[in-house]
Amino acid sequence: MLFPDYRPRRMRQNKVFRRLVRETSLSVNDLILPLFACEGKGVKNPIDAMPGNAQLSIDNLVKVAKQAFDLGIPGVILFGIPSKKDPLGTQAYSKDGIVQRAVKTLKNKIPELLVITDVCLCGYTDHGHCGFVDGHRVDNDATLDLLAKTALSHAKAGADMVAPSDMMDGRVAEIRGTLDENDFSQVPIMSYAAKYCSAFYGPFREAAESAPKFGDRRTYQMDPANAREAIREAAMDVEEGADIIMVKPALPYLDIICRIRDEIDLPMAAYHVSGEFSMIKAAEKMGWVDGQKVMMESLIAIKRAGADIILTYFAMEAAALING
Ligand code: PBG
Repeated sequence: MLFPDYRPRRMRQNKVFRRLVRETSLSVNDLILPLFACEGKGVKNPIDAMPGNAQLSIDNLVKVAKQAFDLGIPGVILFGIPSKKDPLGTQAYSKDGIVQRAVKTLKNKIPELLVITDVCLCGYTDHGHCGFVDGHRVDNDATLDLLAKTALSHAKAGADMVAPSDMMDGRVAEIRGTLDENDFSQVPIMSYAAKYCSAFYGPFREAAESAPKFGDRRTYQMDPANAREAIREAAMDVEEGADIIMVKPALPYLDIICRIRDEIDLPMAAYHVSGEFSMIKAAEKMGWVDGQKVMMESLIAIKRAGADIILTYFAMEAAALING
């Protein structure tokens, strides 16, 4: 049908029509808030490039998590900043590590809040890489056991779900096997399946103090130029037992979200990463964009592309807006 028989503007003429024909909606149910746990008491170290976010000691972390819970946000994802790092990242899988203690306390204080843990070594190794390093090479197979140990220690602490973000091959199967052998078959895995080697992680690395000391992550994270490969990565993780597939970053990779949505029927998450957040905050601060509107447009775009779940530093701001 062509103009003048069809007039697309008819359905846009007022708010109620627009509401009626809206194809996508954003709900508080879709949001996961990332949080950074550090040692100490009463600590709140603001992260410069991520206004409103901070490294939080467990007492303060509980307070922020409670605010998120009260806004109706279903869950948080935890990253830890350990007090000491070593070549094997032992604090990542220590029983009394920062994340393990944070999980325990959170599950104790806010049992109904979903506590997800990021499973990776980069924040815990002194070289800052996501795996076991042999010379200047990140050894895939030698890393698998360390990741599985990390995931198991999180499950033992009470984590509701583990989210491996390391991008080693075969880690989902390894983690699934270890969890199952230890009676944690009910703990799901949200795999960072298509995680790109992205400069948009810059502010996060300041927050998590996890920048690599030599080289970069190009030998394990995906090349931003590749899309077909993302489908293979996601399909592998499905085969290995992932319960939720993640694409990361989100906005620059909407085509990947869309393609994986078409190919794979598992729930899909997208990580709206630190750099995406910081750019909006910076432009807002300059007075160049309306930060709130750009935030909401970004989040709805990520949903429209096909994501069911969005991990975002905007979770609380967006939830507050949605709740009115
Ligand atoms: C750890 C990890 C990273 C992010 C989540 N998990 C950083 C990285 O891979 O260097 C990035 C999140 C963000 O930028 O918000 N591997």
